[in-house]
Amino acid sequence: MKKILALVLSLVLLMACVSVASAAGKVGVAMPTQSLQRWNQDGANMKAQLEAAGYEVDLQYANNEVATQVSQIENMILNEVNVLVVASIDGSALGTVLTQAKEAGIPVIAYDRLLTDTDAVDYYTTFDNYKVGQIQGQYIVDKFDLANTDKTYTIEFTAGSPDDNNAGLFFAGAYDTVKPYLDNGKLVCVSGQLDFATVATPAWKSETAQARMDNILSAYYADALTGGQTLDICLCSNDSTALGVTNSLVAAGYTTENIPVITGQDCDIANTKNMVKGLQAMSVFKDTRTLAEQTVKMVSSILAGETPELNGEYDNGVKQVASFNCTPVFADVSNYESLLVESGYYTAEQLAE
Ligand code: BGC
Repeated sequence: MKKILALVLSLVLLMACVSVASAAGKVGVAMPTQSLQRWNQDGANMKAQLEAAGYEVDLQYANNEVATQVSQIENMILNEVNVLVVASIDGSALGTVLTQAKEAGIPVIAYDRLLTDTDAVDYYTTFDNYKVGQIQGQYIVDKFDLANTDKTYTIEFTAGSPDDNNAGLFFAGAYDTVKPYLDNGKLVCVSGQLDFATVATPAWKSETAQARMDNILSAYYADALTGGQTLDICLCSNDSTALGVTNSLVAAGYTTENIPVITGQDCDIANTKNMVKGLQAMSVFKDTRTLAEQTVKMVSSILAGETPELNGEYDNGVKQVASFNCTPVFADVSNYESLLVESGYYTAEQLAE
């Protein structure tokens, strides 16, 4: 009898816990793709932190296909999520489904990438994206002492996906920082490919960045390793494009001895290993744990009917979207251990060859 009573009591307790968990609410998290490392981390962090805060989570990845992301969000609306968190593939392509969310009274948070050309977005959590580009550009200015040198250095640019609002901001931050030196001739872009549309990389694909760099190398720097025109700097907006550019250079015969200075962003594992090896010069660390934490706080505030913590705003073409911008941090071989390993972001094993 006692045993039965204990069993009934634990069942009641369990049911109480379950109802407390779902009482906190249901959150739909729409992520772009599992093919790039960072989104797996973002998704995992969001799910873990939301669940720890008592929310039920529907986490979906859309394989970089807009139609898939639209139908995933439609399902989340049908399943009556209380809040939607969306990291878009194409920030301007979700207007219709976001309007459905708005009509259903579901608040929408744009995650990392701005949702543009719609009024059906409430808030935005991200990093200071222009600053990311500035960190990359300033690294080049300092590394080559451009303010004081008499030398001329060559530079090629590789930017991100044209459908990602962040890509233009990263490029602008970097370009604006190095522009004075393009103007005074201390930096020369031999290919002449300087505008965002020309240097962009659809879907941020490593293979696409690699193929473009193959073409640039053979058209403008074919004799670089035999005394001809050298290439000093590859300013890449993120790690997936940096990886493609690095692969192109290595395939063309460059080694750690003579590889151009390559910038990146995200501290992906493959790129961090390349920094340690001396193949990539720097990256920008955006701690996805912090972004997830801010987003979870935002979800909780919204559901409590409070105004979330905000520190910026972005124009999405239709409205000013209030945002919380986390801070990006410079990373290279000198600080990666404290930033990435000691902080528990990666284990030493993950970064071992
Ligand atoms: C993110 C970057 C990422 C890129 C490709 C951007 O929107 O902000 O961190 O490298 O997408 O996934």
